Amino acid sequence: MKVQDFTLKKQSSERISMVTCYDAWSAKLIAGTDIDCVLVGDSLAMVVYGFDTTLPVDIDTMAAHTAAVRRGAPDKFIIGDMPFLSYRQGQGLAVENAGKLMQAGANAVKLEGAAGNLDMITHLVESGIPVMGHLGLTPQSVHRLGGMHVQGRDNGAAEQLKRQATELQQAGCFALVLELVPAALAATVTQALDIPTVGIGAGAATDGQVLVLHDLLGLSANFKPKFLRTWMDGAVNVHDALQSFHREVNEGTYPGKQESYA
Ligand code: KIV
Repeated sequence: MKVQDFTLKKQSSERISMVTCYDAWSAKLIAGTDIDCVLVGDSLAMVVYGFDTTLPVDIDTMAAHTAAVRRGAPDKFIIGDMPFLSYRQGQGLAVENAGKLMQAGANAVKLEGAAGNLDMITHLVESGIPVMGHLGLTPQSVHRLGGMHVQGRDNGAAEQLKRQATELQQAGCFALVLELVPAALAATVTQALDIPTVGIGAGAATDGQVLVLHDLLGLSANFKPKFLRTWMDGAVNVHDALQSFHREVNEGTYPGKQESYA
C-alpha cells in the first residue's frame, strides 16, 4: 500500500482495514495478513504502559515503538501517531517530531484535531510527510472534552466536525480517522470528502475501519464498548495457556522427554 492507494481505494469503493500495533512481535503476525495498514497509536500509553490516558507518552517513545513495528512488518504502510503537544509548539518542532517518526520507519503521521493545526499540516505535507487527520473523539483532548464520549451529537458540534473535515482535506491530509461519532454524521462526512475516512465507533459507512489490536483479539478483558466486536477470546485463551503451563510445571509433566536434550 502507498499513500496514493488510500484515495484510489475510496474511488473504487474498496474498504481500508487498519489495526494498531506497538511491537515487532505483533507486527510480524500482522505482516502475514492482508490488513492494509498499521497504526502505531498513542493508545500504547494505555494498552502497553497502563496509563489512564494517552497524554504521558512522548515522541521518543513513539519513535522507538514505530521502529520496532517497522522491523516486524517491513512492507506494511505504517502510520505513526504524533503524541500530545508534539505538534502544538510551532512548525519547527512539529517537523522535527514528525521527522523522528518518519526516520523510525513510518510512511505517514497522524495527529488530532483541526483548530490551530491546518497551516502546520500543510507545512508537513509540503515537507514530504503524509498526514492522516483525526476528528470526533480526540483522546489527547480528554480533559477538555470531559471524558471519552461520542462526539458531534448536537447540530452545532456536527456542523463543526463537517467543516473541520473539509478543512483537513484542504490542508492536505490523505485520510481522516473519525472516532466515536454518530453513524449518520460519519456517513455525511464520508460522502462529502474525496479522501477516505477510517472509522472507529463511527458506523459502517466510513471508507475503512480501525481497531486497537488487543481489543479485536479480546485481550482487553474489561473493555467492552458498544462499537467493539472481538474475533478471538484472547484474554481467556491466554489465561488458560498460562494456567496450563503453571499446572504442568507443578505436576512435573513439563518438560517431557521430547522437550529435553539427550
Ligand atoms: O491511538 C490510537 O490507537 C488511535 C486509534 C484509536 C484511531 O488513535
